[in-house]
Amino acid sequence: MIISSPDDYREAAQRRLPPFLFHYIDGGAYAEQTLRRNVEDFQAVALRQRVLKNMADLSLETRLFDETLRLPIVLAPVGLTGMFARRGEVQAARAAASRGIPFTLSTVSVCPIEEVAPAIDRPMWFQLYVLRDRGFMKDALERAKAAGVKTLVFTVDMPVPGARYRDARSGMSGPNAPVRRMVQAMTHPGWAWDVGVRGLPHDLGNVSRYLGKATGLADYIGWLGANFDPSISWKDLEWIREFWDGPMIIKGILDPQDARDAVTFGADGIVVSNHGGRQLDGVLSTARALPAVAGAVNGRLRVLVDSGIRNGLDVVRALALGADAAMIGRPFVYALAAGGEAGVANLLDLIETEIRVAMTLTGATSISAIGRDLIADA
Ligand code: FNR
Repeated sequence: MIISSPDDYREAAQRRLPPFLFHYIDGGAYAEQTLRRNVEDFQAVALRQRVLKNMADLSLETRLFDETLRLPIVLAPVGLTGMFARRGEVQAARAAASRGIPFTLSTVSVCPIEEVAPAIDRPMWFQLYVLRDRGFMKDALERAKAAGVKTLVFTVDMPVPGARYRDARSGMSGPNAPVRRMVQAMTHPGWAWDVGVRGLPHDLGNVSRYLGKATGLADYIGWLGANFDPSISWKDLEWIREFWDGPMIIKGILDPQDARDAVTFGADGIVVSNHGGRQLDGVLSTARALPAVAGAVNGRLRVLVDSGIRNGLDVVRALALGADAAMIGRPFVYALAAGGEAGVANLLDLIETEIRVAMTLTGATSISAIGRDLIADA
């Protein structure tokens, strides 16, 4: 199929993937209202068109946590990325590095820290969940540090998992899930050979190393489910702040008061996120939450945003609403499923072109020039 826009990768991924995997990534929590609004509310932001401002010299570069990013984008942590393409985390990390942007490895990746970090020539970011098993957290942090990770993304919006009804319908979980997954794999031979066979082991790489035994999809659901910790509070993050000397970003902030608490805590950054509409359905979209959150922190830490960003125009809209950079989740996984490393690299090229065009037509010559005044009805 012809890929001409970032959105095309979604359909390409759907063709290639067994349904349980497509719906695992595509779906959200409950009735998926927040998932839909995430996308719609970015689309609804009207930019101001400006003309005749000599836009010959544009710079898309930005500085974030002592790193130079060629584009104001970071690949978001996505669990099980290695199920979407062969050793998928390595391929996605390579594509990100080739385009000069950070890749964030999820706690629950297929490829372990030690496989991904050496495959790229820039430090990757590492995402950690707050889990009951503090031994695992400490072990993962030590291994990340040893692998050269500097930037830690701490995801705090999952004290309990939100119900994802699509997963039960699709065979990701629910009755007879293993049999259903097997049948789906057999009817998707492209994926089955490339990922199902040649992409083994389908471990939770980081967890297996810690437990000292192989883990599989059942463990993903079981171990993670048993390990979410509804008792967490800011106090539980203090030992990590002391242990980790690099930048620490709190991911999953949607409320201005929580953003102020993140400042008080001493975070270096936040990700304004509702987990891509996968947690509490009915909460605000990030496009709507972002201006107040950015206003509350008022430059005291760096603000990233994700959930619903689908293309380069959305990146510019996110920056105009107050973010310093955008994280991208589903779009890169669709591209990875459809085209591996080259697919993700091409997606980033498409997004770069879109950002460039949007900057030219809004009169913003640099990333720092993208602000509230780019919005038409601000
Ligand atoms: C996620 N997300 C996520 N976040 C995180 O901190 N750790 C993780 O392991 C995962 N896993 C995960 C799996 C899948 C399939 C999805 C779609 C998302 C959330 C992710 O980092 C990000 O917040 C959202 O994907 C952003 O929304 P968009 O860009 O997908 O709309």
